[in-house]
Amino acid sequence: MNLLDQINRENVPGHIAIIMDGNGRWAKKQGQERLYGHSIGVESVRETLTAAKNIGVKYLTLYAFSTENWNRPKAEIDGLMNLLVRTISNEVDELNSSGVRLHSIGDRDGLPQECREELASAMQRTSHNDSIHLILALNYSARWEITRAARLIAEAAQQGELDPAAIDDELISSRMSTADFPDPELLIRTSGEYRLSNFLLWQIAYTELHFTSVLWPDFKEEDLYKAVLDYQSRERRFGMVSEQL
Ligand code: IPE
Ligand code: IPE
Ligand code: MG
Repeated sequence: MNLLDQINRENVPGHIAIIMDGNGRWAKKQGQERLYGHSIGVESVRETLTAAKNIGVKYLTLYAFSTENWNRPKAEIDGLMNLLVRTISNEVDELNSSGVRLHSIGDRDGLPQECREELASAMQRTSHNDSIHLILALNYSARWEITRAARLIAEAAQQGELDPAAIDDELISSRMSTADFPDPELLIRTSGEYRLSNFLLWQIAYTELHFTSVLWPDFKEEDLYKAVLDYQSRERRFGMVSEQL
């Protein structure tokens, strides 16, 4: 039986988040520049999005550029920003006609103007869609987001709009850049690294983690199905005992 047929359609994660890692190493293995790896990585995004949508995933969050990635060589950063602008502009019609709604999380103000504009226009164009929500984490880090939420909450309290005693985890979630999205049930990291690199730290409190050694440009439909099957084999206890489930 192929992998797709093994997936239980009643238990597909509603939200999958992916740390797309390994583009540089993939390119190096081919004797190419790192940027080539990033551009081939776009094909994995396309394939993963289609596969996710077909099995009924409603939210797909992709870590595309972290706040720490600004520390890379300028040529790579420029290449990545260019690739982002070109990709969004090339794909927006297709995204729109297939019912994808585009969102972004992260500090948009820190992105180059061209990126901000392309992103804003694509988000606007696709805003009536709801087959699947594609959330790009750009200039994102969890600590940036948590710090910002803390500041927003402190300001509201200082203005007398919020009683500190009313601060609970729901309120904190509502001040995150992910306020409109449910927490991910499944987080995937490619390239054999076992770390979170400042991604969604608040939201993944009870997320199932799937690590694979596949480098992102090699990540295909079947790899997504493997991750979903791994997820479906887990017992999610949320602090309880098996018998209570
Ligand atoms: C992930 O691939 C893409 C980004 C971080 C933008 P990398 O560029 O980190 O590739 P490796 O990890 O160096 O192989
Ligand atoms: C995490 O990958 C960020 C993205 C995938 C955008 P990195 O390659 O930047 O992470 P580290 O440096 O290996 O932790
Ligand atoms: Mg990396």
